[in-house]
Amino acid sequence: MSSLTAIDHVGIAVDDLEAAVEHYRRTLGVKPILRERVADQGVEEVLFAAGNSYIQLLGALAPDTPVGRFLTTNGPGIHHVAYRVTDIASTLDQLRREQVRLIDDVPRRGSRNTLIAFVHPKSMGGVLVELVQEG
Ligand code: CO
Repeated sequence: MSSLTAIDHVGIAVDDLEAAVEHYRRTLGVKPILRERVADQGVEEVLFAAGNSYIQLLGALAPDTPVGRFLTTNGPGIHHVAYRVTDIASTLDQLRREQVRLIDDVPRRGSRNTLIAFVHPKSMGGVLVELVQEG
């Protein structure tokens, strides 16, 4: 079975990405280490390092995207928690065996050359969970 090795990141939905980046810089003294626009997910993300983990700010590219809909419904705030795993395929197999509802049946490419898969919040106590395997 695959093991969890870290909280990879916490994904935080923000209304205004530039303002949020500036706020994190000013208040926490952190500098963005990566900025990436993921057009097929309708999102632009900025990563800050926090030790061996990351803070991921998520801005929506349009209202009718997953993060855009989240912002409309909930306002800004924590969007998902990402767990780092050693073998994402075996973690997904384990979740399937336990009848956990998956959003991604097959891992896909994330930022930082990672493989990622989302797990449905209905199966995880209301928390949208992302699995991350580093490349
Ligand atoms: Co994420």
